[in-house]
Amino acid sequence: MKFLIRHAVVTGANKGIGFEIVRQLASNGVTVALTSRDEKRGLAAVEKLKNSGCDNVIFHLLDVTDPASVDSVVHFVSSQFGKLDILVNNAGIGGFNMEGDNFVGIFEDRLTKKAGLRISLPTFCQTQKQL
Ligand SMILES: NC(=O)c1ccc[n+]([C@@H]2O[C@H](COP(=O)([O-])OP(=O)(O)OC[C@H]3O[C@@H](n4cnc5c(N)ncnc54)[C@H](OP(=O)(O)O)[C@@H]3O)[C@@H](O)[C@H]2O)c1
Repeated sequence: MKFLIRHAVVTGANKGIGFEIVRQLASNGVTVALTSRDEKRGLAAVEKLKNSGCDNVIFHLLDVTDPASVDSVVHFVSSQFGKLDILVNNAGIGGFNMEGDNFVGIFEDRLTKKAGLRISLPTFCQTQKQL
């Protein structure tokens, strides 16, 4: 099934569930910002996906606990995507997503108020709550 929606951001996506979410979104035609708090691990994850045929994955640095880092991703989404259809806030540690609610609120606020973007059909997927 191909998604009609087009642009996604996934947090904590260099490994684990986040990485697999990126792979599945990209495999279904969504352009995905694979974000990671570590550039080396993030770029390696993107490379791995590209080697398996997913070309529509772009790396961006993001530590969900760092407001400046959140601002940087908001700017990226605004300038490169022009909209955001899916936000998967997956980043966390060992079964507990500490920063999730705070990150989503800050991200949405900055995206809409500072960048002037509307999040079209927002899908806030908190893996903590869904697993
Ligand atoms: N696996 C389960 O059974 C399970 C069950 C319930 C809920 N969950 C939730 O599902 C999510 C993913 O689980 P997982 O098993 O895939 O975990 P994982 O393999 O430990 O991956 C966690 C990811 O989050 C990243 N991360 C941690 N802190 C971050 C921060 N401040 N900013 C940005 N990224 C950060 C990690 O980056 P680094 O590589 O840099 O550390 C890693 O990419 C987590 O939120 C977890 O709480 C998992």
